Parts: sequence; C-alpha cells; structure tokens
Amino acid sequence: MTDAAAAPVTAPAPDERPPRGTLRRAVRMLGLDRRRVLLAVLTGTLALGCGVALAAVSAWLITRASQMPPVLQLSIATVAVRTFGIGRGVLRYLDRLVSHDVALRGMTNLRTTLYGRLAAGRSEATLRVRRGDLLARVGADVDAVGDVVVRGLLPAGVALLLGAGTVAAMAFFWPPAAAALAACLVLAGVGAPLLAARGARIAERRAASARADASAAALTALDDAGPLLVAGGVERRLRELRDADRRLARAVDSGAATSALAAGIGILATGLAATAALVTGIPAVRSGALAPVDLAVVVLTPLAAFEATGMLPAAAVAVQRSRAAAARILALLDSADAPAPVASVAPEGAAPAPVAATSEALAAAAAAGIDDAGIQARALACGWPGLSPVLRDVDLDVVPGRSVAVVGPSGAGKTTLLLTLAGLLPPAGGTLLLGGVEPAHLSPADRAGRVVVTTEDAHVFGTTVLENLRVARGDVTPEEAVAALAAAGLDGWLTALPDGLDTLLGPDARTVSGGERRRLLLARALLAPAPLLLVDEPAEHLDPDTADALVTSLLAGPAAPDGGRRGVVVVTHRLTPLAAADEVLWVESGRIVARGTHAELSAGLLDYREAVRRERVTADQRERA
Ligand SMILES: Nc1ncnc2c1ncn2[C@@H]1O[C@H](COP(=O)(O)OP(=O)(O)OP(=O)(O)O)[C@@H](O)[C@H]1O
Ligand SMILES: [Mg+2]
Repeated sequence: MTDAAAAPVTAPAPDERPPRGTLRRAVRMLGLDRRRVLLAVLTGTLALGCGVALAAVSAWLITRASQMPPVLQLSIATVAVRTFGIGRGVLRYLDRLVSHDVALRGMTNLRTTLYGRLAAGRSEATLRVRRGDLLARVGADVDAVGDVVVRGLLPAGVALLLGAGTVAAMAFFWPPAAAALAACLVLAGVGAPLLAARGARIAERRAASARADASAAALTALDDAGPLLVAGGVERRLRELRDADRRLARAVDSGAATSALAAGIGILATGLAATAALVTGIPAVRSGALAPVDLAVVVLTPLAAFEATGMLPAAAVAVQRSRAAAARILALLDSADAPAPVASVAPEGAAPAPVAATSEALAAAAAAGIDDAGIQARALACGWPGLSPVLRDVDLDVVPGRSVAVVGPSGAGKTTLLLTLAGLLPPAGGTLLLGGVEPAHLSPADRAGRVVVTTEDAHVFGTTVLENLRVARGDVTPEEAVAALAAAGLDGWLTALPDGLDTLLGPDARTVSGGERRRLLLARALLAPAPLLLVDEPAEHLDPDTADALVTSLLAGPAAPDGGRRGVVVVTHRLTPLAAADEVLWVESGRIVARGTHAELSAGLLDYREAVRRERVTADQRERA
C-alpha cells in the first residue's frame, strides 16, 4: 500500500501554514476567464477613478469659484462633477455585476472539477471524510476560494491600476506631491495589508489552540461528569474551561488590535500624502511654480485615491482564509488522485492479467468466459486503507437472481463489506472480481453499471423528489419514479406530499425523516441500471412489520432492467424476514462465523434460533398490547 493511501484525508492544522502555491493551484482550478477578469478590474478602476476625478474637479471648482471668474468658465467643471458623480454609482453597480459573475463562474468551474475528480478518483478518499466535513469542503470551502476573486484579487488589481493612474495624473500637476502619494500608497497598499494578514494569522493560531483547549475541557467535563462530581474535580475542570475561554477572548482581541493598527496606517498614509502635498506645494505657489488653484487639486485628490487601498487589509485577511480553504480542498483532491494501491493478487487462472484500461480488462474477461454480471470474492479481506482489516476470509458469489443477507453486531464490518464488494474500497487482501474484472481496472461508470450500493450516509439533495431519484439515472420517468417509491414502501408518503414528485425536499433534506430517507435512497438504488444491488440497513427506523415486509420484498430480488431478477446483498438487523434469502452470512469478530439458509442456521445455531425467537416474542407482546 502506498504512503498516500495510508495518509488520512486531513487538511493542515490551523496553526500550520498551507504549503506554498496552495492558493495559486486552487485559483487555477477556478478556470478564470482572463477577459472577464480584465473587464472586472477595468470597471472597478473606472468606478473608483470617477471618485478620484470627482475629488479633483470639485477641488478645482471650489477654489476657482472663490476667484469669481465669469460663470461660463465654470460650466464644464460643473458638468464634469455631475458626470463623475453619476458615473461612480453606475460603474460601481456594473463592477459588482462583472466581478460577481467572474467569481460565480469560477466557483462553478471549481465545483465541477472537484465533483468530476472525486467521482473519477479513489472513492475511499471521500468515504474516509466525515459527511459534514465533505459537504463543508465542496460547499463553504469552494465559496471561500471563490471569495478570493471578489475580495482579494480584484481589489488588489483595482488598487494597483488606480494608484498608478492617480500618481501619473498628479505628476502632471506637481511631481513632488505625486512622489509622496506613490510612497504613501505603497505604505497603505502593501504595509497595512501585510500587517493585517499577520495579525489575522497570529490571532487564528492563538485562537485555534485556545478553542481546542476549551472544547476538550468542555467535553471532559460533560463526558466524565459523574466521576468528576464524586472526586470533587468539577471546579478544577470549570476553571480550566474559563481559562481557555479567557485565552480565546484575548486571542480574538489581539487580532482586533492589529487590524485596527492596519486601518490606522491607511489613514496615516492619507494624511501624510496630503501634508506632503501642502508642505511642498505652498512654497511652489509662492515661487509661482504651481498655480494656487492646482494646489487645492494636489492636496485634496489624494483623499479619494486611498479608497482602493483602504480595502486591501480586509483583502489580505480574506486571502488568508481562502488559502486555508484551498488547502482543505486540495488535501481531499490529492488523496482522491493518489495512485490506487495494488491490494489483491488473483489466484492463477481465476482472473485476467492485470491491465490498465477498462476496455482491455473487459475484453480479457469476456475472452476468458467469465460471467459478466456477478461479484466473485475469494479470501477477501475488507478494511479501511491504512488500518487493519475489519473482516477477513470472505468467499462469496453474488449473481443476478441470488439474494444474500448479512447480519451481525454493530461494528462487525457489514458496511465495510458492502463498500468493498461495490469496488468503492480497495480489497485489503484476497481477490475480488466484478464481472470478471478487478474493480481497480474498471472506470467509475463501468463499476456503477455493474453494481449499485446504497449506504446510510448517501446524500439527499435539496431539490425535488424526482430529481433526487434521477441521481441514479438521468432519464427516470415520473411513472418509473412512482413505481420505485412504491417498491420502497413510500407510496403513502408520496401521496401525502403537497406537490407529489415535484415536492422540494429543502436544504439538507430536512423535510424527510430518517426512515423515509433510507427508503428514498433505496428507491434511488432500485432505479439504477446495475444488475446487482447492495443495500445497507434499508429498514432502519421502521416498525418491525414494515421493516420485515420491505426486507422480504428486497430479498425476493427486485426486477432488473432486462426483465430478470437482480442479485442483492442486504445488510439488516432483522432476522425474521431472512427466510426469503438464498444465503445468510453471520459476521462477527472479524470473520463470517456462520452461513447457510435461514432454515439451516435456525436448525444448527442456538444463538441464531434464540435471536429469531426473541424477535417473535417481542412481536407477540406488541400485538397483545
Ligand atoms: N470511514 C471510516 N474510516 C475508518 N474506519 C472506519 C470508517 N467507517 C467504519 N470504520 C471502522 O470499520 C469497522 C467496521 O465498521 P462498519 O461500519 O463496517 O460496521 P457495521 O457492521 O456496518 O456497523 P453498524 O451495524 O453499526 O452499521 C469499525 O471498527 C469502524 O470503526
Ligand atoms: Mg453499518
């Protein structure tokens, strides 16, 4: 197994700086359109440029008016003031439109790339990340990387262009003031953002450790509340918690002080630029080198020129945040892209020679006359990469029309077995063939065409019921959807929905209960074109009678798209309906402890018989009650 395979999918810790080039890599994946970026920088610069021009023309107008010239001499300036005033608002609006368009297109590109590469990459990379974390990475983290465009890159481009333009215009009036303005713009546009970023980094580092200490103290106090109370340690734990909380507040405060300093530097630079213009300009007016009206222009214009640099400290902090998000996304992508470990060696004659391309592998399997539709496992070990196997020595054949039930205590490895059989986790040992081909040699599409697996944490999307079912197959018709929902026991639920198949399931699918969720996922699996169906606990959260009916109908082998019966493997905690299974596997303590038909296990295994009897007694008691 490769090192990359063993490495857990973790992002750098908050106090660790992401590797160099992290943000650049992520921004490249945004696939930004250069022309649109240029347009956004241009509209942004023109919008703020109008502000600078407005300040300059107003300064000229006020001072020139005080000299009481013929009013016609002022009319062009009056029109210019109006034009720049209106132009600033209009251009700012356009700038918002263009820059957000660039950012949103970028996020769409990044998200599409991310989904594409995660789907094509090693599935255990996504399986190993907790679901909430995965959603955060494809959701908020992608947004944070996209944010860098609107909040980081574009403001920096605008500040650079506007600064250069204003300095050039000022040089036309009075070069010494232009030189001072350039120096002050560098101070405000480079010094202040660097300071703000440093402050944010320090605050985040201190806050991260204080936050970790606070949650550790809180968890210990909650988890061990009883023993702590008896041993009199509650007060000490609470003191630790209060300490950590105080440190957290101090860390946040220390960040606030630095960002206030950064903001102060911006104001200081503005003042310095205006003072420098005054100090150098007044003698120049006296000596006649500078017209008095122009003095007002060179003193007042810098006040508007700093509007662009004023946004840069916040931009630097945003870049910081985006870099951390980029690191989390890239950590996930890198683990999905890592080369697949070579885990299993097929016994002689049983498997085609390892070949890289799917088509060659399929051709080799077909030539060897291997059954195209089945799963064949020999001495298969199942486990999570980098950890020791949770289940060993699994010999199993699943072909269309055959049904297998898997039972066993929690943590026995039932879900891990299903994920391995589906080719989503690499075998930790032994051989696994999907339609005669090792899963590593199948493309994700070919794998999904052979076997579909539904696990408890599959995602229900915030869209309509029908679209949620179309995840399995894009062309599912409403009639097929209704039939699949009925087969999953959801016909009553569907009738009660306000808009039937078009009912929105809402963000995070909050409108669906736990049991409905499972059955919705089952209905989705039933619509997939694969001839083999692996289902994890479809009847969880259901009352025993409904659960038994559902498992029985699944074990009877749902109809395959070609009209035959599908092969199914069902993980379940109910034993009563297992009479419908061709074979029952009892897994415990890392292996299959018993296997056979329901009747054989009931006859030969006291524990099994006892468990079935307990289910029956409970059912009788329920009925009597
Ligand atoms: N994402 C994961 N990463 C690493 N190890 C895992 C992961 N998921 C499960 N495991 C480990 O694999 C072992 C088997 O877990 P599995 O989920 O397969 O059990 P199960 O039989 O399905 O249990 P249950 O009946 O509770 O669903 C457990 O020890 C668990 O800690
Ligand atoms: Mg499980």
